[in-house]
Amino acid sequence: MTSLLVTGIGELATCGTEPEVASVDTRPDAAFVVERGRVAWVGTSREAPAADQVHDVGGRAVIPGFVDSHSHLVFAGDRAEEFAARMAGERYAAGGIRTTVAATRAATDEQLVATVARHITEMRRQGTTSVEIKSGYGLTVLDEARGLAVARQFTEDTTFLGAHVVPPEYADDAPGYVALVTGPMLDAAAPHARWIDVFCETGAFDEDQARAILLAGRERGLGGRLHANQLGPGPGVRLACELGLVAVDHCTYLADDDVSALRDSGTIATLLPGVEFSTRSPYPDARSLVDAGVRVALASDCNPGSCYTSSMPLCVALAVREMRMTPAEALWSATAGGALALGRDDVGRLTVGSRADYVVLDAPSYLHLAYRPGVPLVAEVSGSPV
Ligand code: NIG
Ligand code: FE
Repeated sequence: MTSLLVTGIGELATCGTEPEVASVDTRPDAAFVVERGRVAWVGTSREAPAADQVHDVGGRAVIPGFVDSHSHLVFAGDRAEEFAARMAGERYAAGGIRTTVAATRAATDEQLVATVARHITEMRRQGTTSVEIKSGYGLTVLDEARGLAVARQFTEDTTFLGAHVVPPEYADDAPGYVALVTGPMLDAAAPHARWIDVFCETGAFDEDQARAILLAGRERGLGGRLHANQLGPGPGVRLACELGLVAVDHCTYLADDDVSALRDSGTIATLLPGVEFSTRSPYPDARSLVDAGVRVALASDCNPGSCYTSSMPLCVALAVREMRMTPAEALWSATAGGALALGRDDVGRLTVGSRADYVVLDAPSYLHLAYRPGVPLVAEVSGSPV
């Protein structure tokens, strides 16, 4: 067994506070030891134990790798024109998803694998070391199963999103499509999925449909998550809390009742500020959520329609600048918070026993993630230069 001592860390953000609160435990002059891919020891450089190899990071800051708990990477095609039209005043609507569905169905398995691989590489260069990937651009039994099988090649956190929109061939038969999703499509998807998700929104699926689909998934052993309250106020957030889901994502339009339901249920609100940026929508009020005691995660939502960024540093910067999170809260939400949103305690922190997924920043402090927006600060990911 070889051990690696990472030393000379100017500031180590462990994100390992107990109880889980949105704060960052920073240590100056820090060091840690990695054994078998796990953190085996954390302390100061001065008291560091001997190790087989030593890596001195020269006073730079180290943070846990980002945990991106919401992405849609299995797709084909391009919707740059749709983005340009939005910037000229068009509104984002759920219907654009069907454009990507047509392109994805026409793609080969090899093309889909190559696209996911390219985005995973892009994410890693920006410090993401764990990612959740959804299906949802196939919307047939075979295409959803194949999308999930592709995603499974890259992560354990795969999510069945057959209930993304009603596909054109079921345009006049939404109940028939819900029966497909909860029946044969779920049968084909479940072996490849850990989670099930529904887009609960006007133009997609209503509350009753979402409840039926989430409960069917639960019977098959899949954990539930939900896209909700993205395009307007609605019942989705309260449904997620009622069902005790681990996370509900978007949360752009929240009423007071939604906030108290989140606080009382412990369901994590996953905010996706890249979507508000890319759809020119109002940002959710993260400050009020955190102040109300709601646990908040940040994720990219990387997808070709509403938000084609894979950058967690951008999400951190937007959360601080536009949603009034402190830099510490934003970093916690993009690491430990994302891990909680995936029900994981092995990633998103750098404490003894956690996976040694770490990022060296070309900066003296994690504060620079928000202070220097748009600057490629990620220098190394778990010992490899990027
Ligand atoms: O999370 N909201 C639903 N699904 C994606 C967008 C998908 C698309 O526009 O292609 C989202 O924003
Ligand atoms: Fe999404």
